[in-house]
Order: sequence, then C-alpha cells, then structure tokens
Amino acid sequence: MEKRSIDLLTNGGLLSVLDVGSGTGFDCWSFMIHFGEGTKITGVDSSKIMIEEATIRYGVKYPQINFITASVEHLPFKNNTYSATHCERLLCHLPSPNTAIEEIIRVTKPGGRVVVTEADYGTTIIHSDLLALTERLVNLLCISITNHRIGRQLSGTLAANGLKDIVIETNNLVFRSLNEFDRASGLISSLESAVEKGVLTNNEKTAWLEDQRNKDEKGQFFASTTFFTVAGNV
Ligand SMILES: C[S@@+](CC[C@H](N)C(=O)[O-])C[C@H]1O[C@@H](n2cnc3c(N)ncnc32)[C@H](O)[C@@H]1O
Repeated sequence: MEKRSIDLLTNGGLLSVLDVGSGTGFDCWSFMIHFGEGTKITGVDSSKIMIEEATIRYGVKYPQINFITASVEHLPFKNNTYSATHCERLLCHLPSPNTAIEEIIRVTKPGGRVVVTEADYGTTIIHSDLLALTERLVNLLCISITNHRIGRQLSGTLAANGLKDIVIETNNLVFRSLNEFDRASGLISSLESAVEKGVLTNNEKTAWLEDQRNKDEKGQFFASTTFFTVAGNV
C-alpha cells in the first residue's frame, strides 16, 4: 500500500486501527510497522479462508493484530470503537456500498479518521489501434465489476455520510505488459464471456487481442486505471 494512505490514517496519537476487507493481512502488518507495537489493529474479512491465511501470516506472530471473520455490512463492534478505519478495494465488489460506509463511520470514534481507496474502472485506458472496439471492451470489462464507478462516487458518498475535512488523492496504476494487466483485470476471461454472451464476435476478440499481443511483443503495451484515496474526519 501507499505510505501516504498510512499517513492519512492519523491526526496523531493513534490507538486502534480497523482494516475492513483485510484480505491476507498485509495492510494490517504495514500499520503495525508504521504506528508501532502499541497500536491495536483489527482486520475484518468476510472470507474465512482470507482470515485463516492472515492469521497464519501475521496474527500468530503479532498478538496486537487480531483477525475476525465478519461482513463489513454488519461489523461486530460497538459505536465509536476505533481511532481510524481503513478500507481498500472492497466497495467495488458490494451491491450496496453505502451500507458499508455507514458501518465504517459508525465504528470509528468522533474525530477519528476514515481512509478509503477504490479504483474507478471507467478511467481505464488501453493503447490500441482499434479505438472504437477498445472503448466497447473497456465498457464490457467495467460492467463485469459490481461497482465499477465507485471511485468517482467515493468522496460524495463519504461526505453525504457526514465525513468532514475530506482530502482526495489519486494514483494511476500503469501496466506495461498484457499478462500483468490480465492478472489484475481478468481481461481475457471477460472477452471470452463477452463472446459467449454474443456481445462481442469471435473475430473482434481475435483482431483486438492480436493487436495487443503485437504491441506486447514490441514492448509497446500500455494500460492504466486511476485509484482514488479519500480520507476525512468522523
Ligand atoms: C480485492 S481484496 C482487497 C484486500 C485488501 N484490502 C487489499 O487492498 O489488498 C477484497 C477483500 O474484501 C473481502 N470482502 C468481500 N466482500 C466483503 C464483505 N462484504 N465484507 C468484508 N469483506 C469482504 C474479500 O474476501 C477480499 O479479501
């Protein structure tokens, strides 16, 4: 994670941090390294497998990091529990991100910090000679993600839920190889499913991928997506 995102978590004197959608726990470990062992850190994830993995990687070794299986829509904490709450790359998967934001703000102390990072997949650009087809493909890629435009909605939704003194930072993730972009976006399987659904012809898929593979071989592949970090005070 970006060091700047960690800095945004504190107004000074941090005692407890909650990371929702904590995955395999790397961010929780980063918070401990950054804020010191006196800070109590909780990672929450709805996937039992993720929580087990995070516990093996970090929870066993560092007793101040605690991992709990729970859904962000129903956080098992009292109101005003944490000094700061962090959430990264989770809201884009939720049918109702506002419920998650309400919960994040509910469990954060008055005057505490909330930091949320999400991509806006509508900002995805891919260098291609087939411009109109590329725009269609980016749109197909977007609609395979539940909340693909959460990035542009994030600051407004957090403000509507009462977050104050909002700051917004951006980070462009740049991909220089087709393989790397495919791993991050699921591009090739999205194209295959678009052909199966009849919204893309096999010829279009083949022509587009041939152009991309050509560029890739010559070191000319380029794709980028913008991530937005929105931080503020409860
Ligand atoms: C893309 S991963 C991001 C992990 C981590 N925040 C990061 O940025 O590396 C999204 C995580 O959110 C979890 N997740 C999905 N839906 C959730 C929910 N409703 N409540 C809590 N966690 C959820 C997934 O299990 C997954 O670990």
